[in-house]
Amino acid sequence: MSRRPQDHYGHRARREGYPARSVYKLQAIDERYRLFHPGMRVLDLGAAPGSWTLYVAERLRGRGQVVAVDLQRLALAPSSLIQVLQMDVFAIEVGVEPFLRGAFDVVLSDMAPSTTGNRTVDQARSFNLFMRALEVAQGVLKEGGAFVGKIFQGPDFEEARAAMRAAFAEVRVAKPPASRKESIEVFLVGLRKQGREKSPDDSPEEHFEDKETQRSKEKPGEEVFVSVRGSACFEKGAQIAFDDASPRGFGECAKEV
Ligand SMILES: C[S@@+](CC[C@H](N)C(=O)[O-])C[C@H]1O[C@@H](n2cnc3c(N)ncnc32)[C@H](O)[C@@H]1O
Repeated sequence: MSRRPQDHYGHRARREGYPARSVYKLQAIDERYRLFHPGMRVLDLGAAPGSWTLYVAERLRGRGQVVAVDLQRLALAPSSLIQVLQMDVFAIEVGVEPFLRGAFDVVLSDMAPSTTGNRTVDQARSFNLFMRALEVAQGVLKEGGAFVGKIFQGPDFEEARAAMRAAFAEVRVAKPPASRKESIEVFLVGLRKQGREKSPDDSPEEHFEDKETQRSKEKPGEEVFVSVRGSACFEKGAQIAFDDASPRGFGECAKEV
């Protein structure tokens, strides 16, 4: 009997000592963009139960700091690398909270609202969490820093993407394989935070869904993430303009939706 891929991630997380399989979403994004290096400071918003925090702490290899923030209590073993704050992200006062003083290299947000079943409401709440995370990121990130934020696909997606384009030199849309096919979540990845506000038009952008990889036809030898089947790459009716991004993978994904 074949095992569903999502069960595979759950089993693997338990086996490898992570409290949630969401760790493999961050791992895929990190493998693609090489976000973490020893010595970095990383802020993890919506961190409970702690998989992303543990993954980042491992990637820091004993040097640096992860500040993990969540509404819920995080039951992580004490560590010199990990600082935990139980608080609402909307209550964060950048520069006031002692753990949040000083600049960060990477800000992560896997925050998700409690879902109501009403897609419009859930998407709007996800958008608010995403925009709040981006606001915090803009307050604490170093120039050149990176941001990864989860957002549910919906009518507000373009506004979120535009805000990212204004803040980062490059903006990518990621749908890692560990993200359920039927889920409307995607991750916006901002690379190289700008010191000044950028025009929304001057950012190269690329989409990947690393369901399958194949060699880029445009840049032979470079491995890129491409959706071949992409059945749940995006919801039908989502507000994304499929043809406005890199041809690498994005178009193929759109055909299948
Ligand atoms: C999908 S879970 C995060 C999983 C985590 N990345 C991991 O790998 O273990 C989403 C988290 O967002 C948190 N969250 C939602 N709204 C929040 C808010 N306003 N402030 C802080 N955390 C919030 C929830 O409490 C929940 O723990």
